Amino acid sequence: MKRILIIGASRGIGLAAAEEFATRGWHVTGTVRGTAKTPLHDLRTARPTAIDIASVDITDRDQITALHQQLKGQSFDILLVNAGTANTNQNETIAETTTEEFTRVMVTNALSPMRVVEALSDLVMPEGDNRCHVFRTGQRRGKYQRRP
Ligand SMILES: NC(=O)c1ccc[n+]([C@@H]2O[C@H](COP(=O)([O-])OP(=O)(O)OC[C@H]3O[C@@H](n4cnc5c(N)ncnc54)[C@H](OP(=O)(O)O)[C@@H]3O)[C@@H](O)[C@H]2O)c1
Repeated sequence: MKRILIIGASRGIGLAAAEEFATRGWHVTGTVRGTAKTPLHDLRTARPTAIDIASVDITDRDQITALHQQLKGQSFDILLVNAGTANTNQNETIAETTTEEFTRVMVTNALSPMRVVEALSDLVMPEGDNRCHVFRTGQRRGKYQRRP
């Protein structure tokens, strides 16, 4: 059975992807933030053998490390990093956006996904291979090259 790890699957595109992959016969491990019940939990209730749930806030390095520890020994065919955010006020111009808000968005959407890919890459790279396919929602598909 093919396996996908979706980071940020509580709702939105990540949840839709989880549902679609499960429907197509894949096993899905999806992540949520915190302990609150999300629509992904409802999907797991409906498809208990197809869905596993883990927890991570990608802006927290310790949580990324903990997720890696939790998933160690498992392997996935695809890593989909969907977790992301946008400006709280979508109508703000760049002049109006505070540096703190800009930094929050960039840390979530740029720095943190790269940290996730770097930290979890061994879960999607078979032993002896040095490349894997990684997807980041809203951006183009990329190839990740393991550091020599
Ligand atoms: N929808 C579109 O048309 C579109 C188009 C282009 C690009 N995008 C980008 O694609 C990404 C996903 O879009 P979407 O429509 O699925 O957005 P969404 O409905 O807002 O869902 C965002 C997902 O990311 C999770 N998330 C946010 N911050 C996180 C963090 N720090 N750590 C872990 N998970 C986090 C959310 O979890 P919580 O439920 O805990 O908040 C949720 O599962 C966003 O970056 C968005 O900007 C979307």
